[in-house]
Order: sequence, then structure tokens, then C-alpha cells
Amino acid sequence: MSNSAAPNRNPRAGGILCVVGARPNFMKIAPIMAALKGAGPIPARLLHTGQHYDAAMNQQFFRELGIPLPDLNLEVGSASHAVQTAEIMRRFEPVLDAECPAAVLVVGDVNSTIACALVAAKKGVPVVHVEAGLRSFDRTMPEEINRVLTDQISDLLFTTERNARENLLREGVAEPRIHFVGNVMIDTLHRNLERAVPAAQTLGTSAGGLAGCAEGYGVLTLHRPSNVDDPYVLRTLLGMVREISDRLPLVFPLHPRTRAQIGRHGLETLLDSQNLLVLPPLGYLQMLGLMREARLVLTDSGGIQEETTALGVPCITLRNNTERPITVTEGTNTVVGQDPARIGAAVAEVLATGGKGGRVPEFWDGRAAVRIAGILRRWLEDTAARQVA
Ligand code: UD1
Repeated sequence: MSNSAAPNRNPRAGGILCVVGARPNFMKIAPIMAALKGAGPIPARLLHTGQHYDAAMNQQFFRELGIPLPDLNLEVGSASHAVQTAEIMRRFEPVLDAECPAAVLVVGDVNSTIACALVAAKKGVPVVHVEAGLRSFDRTMPEEINRVLTDQISDLLFTTERNARENLLREGVAEPRIHFVGNVMIDTLHRNLERAVPAAQTLGTSAGGLAGCAEGYGVLTLHRPSNVDDPYVLRTLLGMVREISDRLPLVFPLHPRTRAQIGRHGLETLLDSQNLLVLPPLGYLQMLGLMREARLVLTDSGGIQEETTALGVPCITLRNNTERPITVTEGTNTVVGQDPARIGAAVAEVLATGGKGGRVPEFWDGRAAVRIAGILRRWLEDTAARQVA
């Protein structure tokens, strides 16, 4: 842990302290850091909680996306939810005291998001939440708890889709705090599409790759506790994956949580198929290139539901719900759950028809972070004016 204690009077006081912790946070913070630096710059510092720490889950994204190296790192690592959240809070408090920011900005719905928001709110430091108001209405998802609680203690809430406002109003959030700005994750996608690694490179150069699959390929990602922590569910899903790979070769970048569960339950043989290419976690540019050229994507990730909608690639979501309903109503996403028959039918449908058409949702236009910076700038000026008055 670095910079944990410092004198209270701080020349950096008054800026925005931005927080990241886990992989999906990095794509969201990249355009925000850039926009805060832009016209009429707002002083900003970046704090990493260390929730994700493997090079493939972490440093690679900073390099590829040009995110400035974190000014502060809490180096918290993996643990149970309670211990991880508590440890982030414990380590964040003295840093916050030393930094004296005008606000703490958190993104998404991971444990780092709620942990830092909670510390800031208790100390009277305003909280800014980017990607507010998304609801799966499924409290068994750890992220749903993080979303609901973070929104309750946030002062400024930036939303990605219009129905998020309805969710927030229903939960009693004051309307003036809510700003519909669009999707910062899609800002990152726009900015990097031209740099995406061609799929052939990823498929062909990997040992035992899928090179030469003329009929195309699908991409699979799985990491939700509801899909990978229960050995029966995991076994059923992997069995299904094998069957699908007989119809369409699949590329499966394996999340560390999933790899660990497969090992723990001795399910490695289910991955043993020549039409299934198992890879380590991929960098952003490789994953983007793979998704862009895929015939379909099977996933339980939230961000990938949005990225496939932006790319116009059919997405089959292996969950019973989504907190991102616009990807279903306007985008290319179909939510099918864990039932093998429904998954198989959805895959057959996409292969036969090319999948449902979709359109890119409002404000998913690459400018969300610029809108956020504009609103933050005005908010900081208003706050300063109120303090003088
Ligand atoms: C976290 C987020 C989830 C997000 C996901 C993206 C929460 C509650 N969950 O889930 O919303 O979709 O990140 O990846 O915050 N591990 C490593 N190396 C790492 C990080 C983790 O090996 O760099 C392993 C550890 O065994 C760890 C496990 O992965 O116990 C899970 O990591 P954790 O951060 O607890 O949750 P994720 O499943 O990654």
C-alpha cells in the first residue's frame, strides 16, 4: 500500500479522485480520465484498489487504453466479499483524508465501487457514480447490492440508458442529481475499434488454434458466481458448450474464477474438444477484434452485452435477467438463462437467421465522458460559488 498517510493540507485538494478496482472498470475510466484532462481541465487523480491484480486482468488494460498509471494503489487483492470490501474501506480512509478531493468518482458495480463510495459518503465527501441506476432486480447478484447501495449515497448519478432514471426515482433519488449522459464503455469501443487485433491473429497463433474454421466462430465468456460456483450448473453449461462447439467452433477466454472452479471440480475434460479454443484472459484489443468478427457471443458479462449491441453482433446472455434491458429492447441481446434447451434453441436461431437486428442506443456515441466532464465542471463551479457565498 502506498501513500497511506500524509499531512492533511494538500496542494491537490479540490480535484476529483477517480477509483478503479476490477477489469470492467478500466474501460470505463479511460475516457473519463481523458475528458477530465480536456478543454477546461479538471484536476484528477486515479486510485486503484488492487481488486484485480494479474497482468492479464489489469496492467495490460492500462497499457492498451492509455490510462495514466494509478497515483495510488491500495493493493487489496482477492478475498471473500466481506473481507475484500472491508479491506478496501480500511485502506481507503487515510488516503481520502490525505487527498481532500472535491469528490470521489466511482464507476460500475464491483466491490471497489461500493467500498470507496461508502467511505467517502461517511466522511461527507460527495460521491459521483458513473453507470448509475441499472437494476437486474436480482439481489442474489453481488453487483445488484453494490448498485443499489452506491446509488443511494451518490450526489451525482450518471446514467447510460433512459430507464435507469425511472429506477432511481422509484428508489427516492432526487431528480436533479440524475444525468443521462450515455455509455462510457462505448466511448472506449469507438476510440479503439480501428486498433482491434484481427481475429485471425488470435485464432491462428494460439497453440492448437481454430485457424481455418470457414464457417466462422463464436465467443464464450463465463464468470458469474451463479454460473461457475455451483458445480452442477457449471458442468451443465460446459456440457452445453461442447455440444454447441460441434455446430460452431467456440473461443473461450477463461476468467481466473472460472478456471479455478473447473480445476476444483475436476471438469477439465469437458474443455477437451478440437472445436473449443480455451485461452487465458485476453486484452481489450484482442477481445474487441474477436467479438467484432464473431457470428455470435455467449456470455454472462454485463459489459459484453453492451459491446455486442454497439457492434451489432448477436449476443446470447446466459443469465435469467439483465440490468441492461436496452440491449434487449433495442440491441442484439437475447437473455436465455441456464437451461441447455433454451441456449441450444437460441444458438440455432442465430445460426439460421443471423440473429435479431438491433440499433445503437441513444447517446452510445463516443461522447459520454465529454458530457460527464462538462457536468462535473459546472458542478464544481457551483459548489465553489456556494462555499464563497
Ligand atoms: C469481479 C466483479 C464482477 C465483474 C468481474 C470482472 C465484484 C463483486 N465482482 O468479479 O462484477 O464482472 O470482476 O472480472 O466486484 N483473481 C485472479 N486474478 C485477479 C483477480 C481475481 O486470479 O487479478 C481470481 C481470484 O481467485 C479471486 C477470483 O478471481 O478470488 C474472483 O475475483 P473477484 O475480484 O473477487 O471477483 P470476480 O469474479 O473477478
